[in-house]
Amino acid sequence: MILRGYDDFTKDVTLVSYSELVENIDLKNTYLKWLNDPSVVAPIMSEDLAVENKTMSFVDDSFKRFTSENCQGFFINFNRDDVFIGTIKLDSINQSNKSAEIGLMIGDRSYWGNKIGEKAVLVILKYAFENLLLNRCYGGTDESNGRMQNLFIKTGFVFEGKVREGVYFDGKYSDNYRYSILKKDYFHDKESRSVQRS
Ligand SMILES: CC(C)(COP(=O)(O)OP(=O)(O)OC[C@H]1O[C@@H](n2cnc3c(N)ncnc32)[C@H](O)[C@@H]1OP(=O)(O)O)[C@@H](O)C(=O)NCCC(=O)NCCS
Repeated sequence: MILRGYDDFTKDVTLVSYSELVENIDLKNTYLKWLNDPSVVAPIMSEDLAVENKTMSFVDDSFKRFTSENCQGFFINFNRDDVFIGTIKLDSINQSNKSAEIGLMIGDRSYWGNKIGEKAVLVILKYAFENLLLNRCYGGTDESNGRMQNLFIKTGFVFEGKVREGVYFDGKYSDNYRYSILKKDYFHDKESRSVQRS
């Protein structure tokens, strides 16, 4: 599956599902490089991701997970340079509650701070609310991850609160900040964005 940017702002990004890229060995090597870059994975605060010198079996496991029934993963292509620069996913897709968790990683650090994360989130939200017909997308990030906190807010998520000392990582506890966006927020924001443009 391929999800394209849908307006002037998001047209720079295309999301290509993991299932389309299973045979792409070059991309898998690039993905492994991102996963072994401590400055990329450390802000995610996950013990699994923090393991050093991950091998291709880690990548293969990710491909299995992000092509499974309740999880849809995509690689982010930055169209201006025609290069894959990161991943975004809808995880724990729950058909009863109509909800899913968003996760994002721009693996190539040289692309941080160019609003590509913002564009990728807007594209996946369109898919989540307009195609999968979900009602709620949510996510969390560490108290120290100002970039991701900022990104949640600028894409229309609402801060729900802190899971106090919810994470124990690298020898210390930290708070996890939780955010969500509902279908009604999404359609309201979409309308205001189109009014601002016209
Ligand atoms: C977090 C991440 C996805 C952000 O992607 P990105 O493409 O750089 O994000 P954007 O450029 O769209 O937005 C980042 C915003 O944070 C702001 N920012 C940068 N550093 C910041 C800081 N220390 N504190 C607060 N905001 C900060 C930027 O100015 C930008 O806002 P602006 O567009 O209003 O100027 C990317 O840095 C990344 O993949 N990091 C490593 C993995 C990770 O942390 N993933 C999230 C785990 S929950």
